[in-house]
Amino acid sequence: MLAALKPEVTTILSDNKKSVENRLEAVCHLLRDAIDYYDWVGFYFKNGNKEELKLGPYAGEPTDHTIIPFGKGICGQVAVSNENFVVPDVAAQDNYIACSITVKSEIVIPMFKDGENIGQIDIDSNTPDPFSEDDERFLEFVNQKVSQIL
Ligand code: SME
Repeated sequence: MLAALKPEVTTILSDNKKSVENRLEAVCHLLRDAIDYYDWVGFYFKNGNKEELKLGPYAGEPTDHTIIPFGKGICGQVAVSNENFVVPDVAAQDNYIACSITVKSEIVIPMFKDGENIGQIDIDSNTPDPFSEDDERFLEFVNQKVSQIL
């Protein structure tokens, strides 16, 4: 159950002795290790006042896509739509940036601070169509907790 991970997420994020970056990275690793269909877990944040996303802490294979212009790919679309984007089959998307040929599906959930879209959590899965509303609610919770420490 995804909701069972909430206390651990809260504990990690409230550890003031660690840097925010280290706490976010620990959350990425927790999610990737605990949820079998989460193969890459990372945060992207708006890059200063530029219309682009910059890769933040992540768990999984390194990606070349450390900067993503607004509007490009699933992540760039969420930066402008402010809405959750669940992709059951990445091959069916025209505006998609492939990070790995093993990825079958993706979910991107925007993060808000003071009503502003400041970034997102991005999950890649090697499993086709694995995401449900439970993932959306859980990842909204994670983002809300993260935005509180930013
Ligand atoms: N697939 C994403 C790019 C980021 S990687 O998945 C880490 C996209 O289309 O925006």
